[in-house]
Amino acid sequence: MTTIELPDTGATTALGARLAGLVQGGDAIALVGDLGAGKTTLVAGLVAALGGPAAQSPTFSLVNEYIGGRLVVWHVDLYRLEREAEVRELGLDEIVGDRRGIALVEWADKFDVLPRDHLRLELMHVGTARRAILSGTGPRGTALATALG
Ligand SMILES: Nc1ncnc2c1ncn2[C@@H]1O[C@H](COP(=O)(O)OP(=O)(O)OP(=O)(O)O)[C@@H](O)[C@H]1O
Ligand SMILES: [Mg+2]
Repeated sequence: MTTIELPDTGATTALGARLAGLVQGGDAIALVGDLGAGKTTLVAGLVAALGGPAAQSPTFSLVNEYIGGRLVVWHVDLYRLEREAEVRELGLDEIVGDRRGIALVEWADKFDVLPRDHLRLELMHVGTARRAILSGTGPRGTALATALG
């Protein structure tokens, strides 16, 4: 497990940018953390560093697809979903593991939807700052967590 202190928004963006240098097609990342913990900020930093467009919260769109960077990024938000059947209707099965891109899923801990091997990136409030706790659930996720540490 790797812990990274994120004193300000720029640090969250920078962590996303560092992750952009490590990801490969087919990678999956669970973004876990309370409302306002910085999940979308991290995705925006990652997508920008890949050379993609400005990322926005998929709270209402549920899935945003960012094309134009080194990899396609599928940015998913499960916050508003209540049943696992709704997750399947999103087409998450097709997104996850698609080697043309990577999947980042906000509120991924609500449902069991990611491949067994993924990076779990938890963000938490620490006063007005944030802390990231990274762990892998298999060899690939662990390699990413270790490289970021
Ligand atoms: N390390 C940080 N320190 C202080 N503020 C931060 C940090 N990282 C992000 N923020 C700020 O937190 C706010 C919420 O960020 P963001 O929208 O990314 O959170 P979120 O986890 O996606 O929220 P939601 O659960 O609503 O989707 C933004 O104003 C952002 O600038
Ligand atoms: Mg968000």
